[in-house]
Amino acid sequence: MKNGNSQIGEILVTREQIAQRVKELGQKISEDYKGKELVLIGVLKGAFIFLADLIREITIPVDMDFIAVSSYADGTKTSGVVRIIKDMDISISGKHVLIVEDIVDTGLTLNHLKELFSTRNPKSLKICAIFDKPSRRLVPIEIDYKGIEIPNKFVIGYGLDYAGKYRNLPDLCVLNTDNIDDKKE
Ligand code: IMP
Ligand code: MG
Repeated sequence: MKNGNSQIGEILVTREQIAQRVKELGQKISEDYKGKELVLIGVLKGAFIFLADLIREITIPVDMDFIAVSSYADGTKTSGVVRIIKDMDISISGKHVLIVEDIVDTGLTLNHLKELFSTRNPKSLKICAIFDKPSRRLVPIEIDYKGIEIPNKFVIGYGLDYAGKYRNLPDLCVLNTDNIDDKKE
């Protein structure tokens, strides 16, 4: 897939580095939530691969569900608007909830989700994100389980897309914007 596709740039984080970090996060979560009723809520679509890997590194019983939101229209620019496209099916009332995200960029999505989830009376509410772009933050957000910090570049792979594509790249790559007008600001 890489050969001959000019939109896929350099590898920023390899699949081995990601796997190592996911393993560490899974171990930490398993220790912290031992004896507690934990529910993982993955934020679709981006977090589907991370959640699938993370849940297999967790050694305690755990429930899971997905919520689908949209924060980008189509390209790489943020709209600042978070839309719930699919709500979760299970109740999180009285449970320990961990929101699982692919990347924290401006922080707007998680800020919104945290507010929404708190109205549903979880016993606790924390955030786990595999990637973090701290330089782009517009609202402060505490990431309780943080994977890997990356520089201010638009990235693709490991669940992250550009205009719906490249989620299937196993490594985290930089989007090559040479031939794209809609660059992230
Ligand atoms: P935020 O609301 O700006 O923090 O954006 C969060 C969402 O934007 C993430 O869950 C991703 O879906 C998407 N996003 C942010 N940065 C990137 C990127 O570099 N590549 C692909 N998607 C991104
Ligand atoms: Mg996302």
